[in-house]
Amino acid sequence: MEGMSSPAKRIRTIAVTSGKGGVGKTNVVANLAVSLQRRGNNVLVFDADLGLSNIDVLFGIVPKYTIQHLLSGERSLQEVLVKGPEGILILPASSGVEEITHLDEFQRLRVLDEFDSFDGRIDYLLIDTGAGISSNVTFFCIAAQEIIVVITPEPTSLTDAYALIKVLYTKYQERNFKILVNYTKSSLEALETFRRLHLVTERFLKLSLDYLGLIPHDGAVKRAVIAQNAVVIREPDSSSSRSFRDLALKLHNSSNDERLKGSIQFFLGNLFGDTEAVNTVSRGAD
Ligand SMILES: Nc1ncnc2c1ncn2[C@@H]1O[C@H](COP(=O)(O)OP(=O)(O)OP(=O)(O)O)[C@@H](O)[C@H]1O
Ligand SMILES: [Mg+2]
Repeated sequence: MEGMSSPAKRIRTIAVTSGKGGVGKTNVVANLAVSLQRRGNNVLVFDADLGLSNIDVLFGIVPKYTIQHLLSGERSLQEVLVKGPEGILILPASSGVEEITHLDEFQRLRVLDEFDSFDGRIDYLLIDTGAGISSNVTFFCIAAQEIIVVITPEPTSLTDAYALIKVLYTKYQERNFKILVNYTKSSLEALETFRRLHLVTERFLKLSLDYLGLIPHDGAVKRAVIAQNAVVIREPDSSSSRSFRDLALKLHNSSNDERLKGSIQFFLGNLFGDTEAVNTVSRGAD
């Protein structure tokens, strides 16, 4: 089996979240996915946004099935996955996403089985978590190896991001957050925005954040959304496209400090990854 040929190579799971809605998560996921794929990676986008799931809309795709069909056993993973631009794979959302946080043993085994027999290589799993701090959002954040928090210079974005970070830190001991500032006018404004959030987490949580970078406010993003395409495809020379490419490069070059963050992380990491460990986790499940 393909997945077995390189047991050392593990999938990198990155959750993109924000607290506040409408700050650009879905665009970050979509453009990052395309940029990473173009660098020779196989990217799977998991749309875990329960509300208005829109990765598919953003790419102008109408999925036939969703993760709900996978969980119910009606469809196989292969049937549920949709091909996006540049060959990225998309696992479309539905209310079934809520169920994945409460899978019973039987369902879990079936889903694991599906991933087990999936004969494709996946290097990156990008999860669009949707807004808020519901258990659904926090589940995918702690399940992923890395968390990107998208913020904007708006004060409400900062308070909501803080609320999310606080929950993840105090309830789940999550300490690593990569902050991406969207909608910025300048790098100075981006750094200042990051600094404002950082001051608060340092002061009240004694927690340092990582500055990942910025995406400028750019009309090309809006035009791409209207055209149902990723800006890196539609207007590759725009300032935002350049930033998305830089971001992909930075992530790709940063080491993946795989930390085992408890059984849920183990579960999800293996759900989308390595088959050996999947069997172990299935056998050893509670
Ligand atoms: N860098 C940017 N420059 C200009 N407009 C942007 C930028 N990023 C996002 N937008 C605009 O903001 C809108 C919302 O972005 P997006 O859907 O990615 O946010 P979201 O965080 O996923 O929202 P939700 O919380 O509803 O899922 C987009 O439709 C786009 O028009
Ligand atoms: Mg979204």
